[in-house]
Amino acid sequence: MKVTASAPGKLMLMGEHAVVYGAACLVTAVDQRLFVSAEEISGQKNVISAPQVKETRFLEESIAAFRKKCGVKDAVTIETESEFSHNVGLGSSSAVTVATFKALSALFSMSLSRREIFDASYKVVSSIQGVGSGFDVAAATFGGVLYFVKGGKVIDPLNVNRLPLIVGYSGVKADTAALVNRVKHAYKSDRDRIESIFKKISNLVEEGKEVMLAGEHNRLGYLMTKNHSLIRDLDVSTEKLDSMVEVAIGAGAWGAKLSGAGGGDCMIALSPDTKRKGVERAIEEVGGEIIDVEVCAEGVRVE
Ligand code: MEV
Repeated sequence: MKVTASAPGKLMLMGEHAVVYGAACLVTAVDQRLFVSAEEISGQKNVISAPQVKETRFLEESIAAFRKKCGVKDAVTIETESEFSHNVGLGSSSAVTVATFKALSALFSMSLSRREIFDASYKVVSSIQGVGSGFDVAAATFGGVLYFVKGGKVIDPLNVNRLPLIVGYSGVKADTAALVNRVKHAYKSDRDRIESIFKKISNLVEEGKEVMLAGEHNRLGYLMTKNHSLIRDLDVSTEKLDSMVEVAIGAGAWGAKLSGAGGGDCMIALSPDTKRKGVERAIEEVGGEIIDVEVCAEGVRVE
């Protein structure tokens, strides 16, 4: 028997970096998915084919952790497919880990709750990456839009069905671990300044949650732009991301910011539908590539 599970990619809406230090963030799952198919095979050795994933360790360690947790001895063959590249920062490592746990639990008829899948996947992802809050693992597991605190201390689904978001890829792959470490050094050497930035970001996230729930996109956009300027103060943005943000706002977006660790990956803009085309064109004119995604996508599932 072959079982396929899929998990969605993610986008950080607000609160990156501060979330690593205990503040809440807002994250959404997106409708581009990563698929994991699993099948039992005879013998001891697992066979993994995962060309779309950056490192097969995420799969190897998920299989090992699942076997230990559920007392399964059989070997498996695993294949992956993805609707997004691991270069764009939509969270392929966390999506593949979460989808692997789901596929294996379905294959061996072991029922794992979403919380169990989150906890097991977060353990695997943090043991490999060494840094990170787990917001990406939560988005892949639970889907939708989440108010999230590091390690899954709080995972609150927010009742948001639509966000008129435009996503622009900078063309550069971000090195998340390096950027998190850069902020860590700044935190060590200039603690008061960095803590005050985190506090301001945290306040923006709290208000962002309320205005998003109220559907006040104009205000949410304003808060996103403020968030971008605080991320710039952390020294992790780039000229390219800044210019994509600037032209998006110039073309009529309510607000815009980089999304994720900085250094590259994507920016997001919140825009009235009437301005969408112009905002997309402006982002493309400064070298960005529009990624067509819908937000609030479903979490991990068996296909
Ligand atoms: C990276 O996409 C977002 C960070 O906040 C790291 C994390 O929360 O895992 C910088």
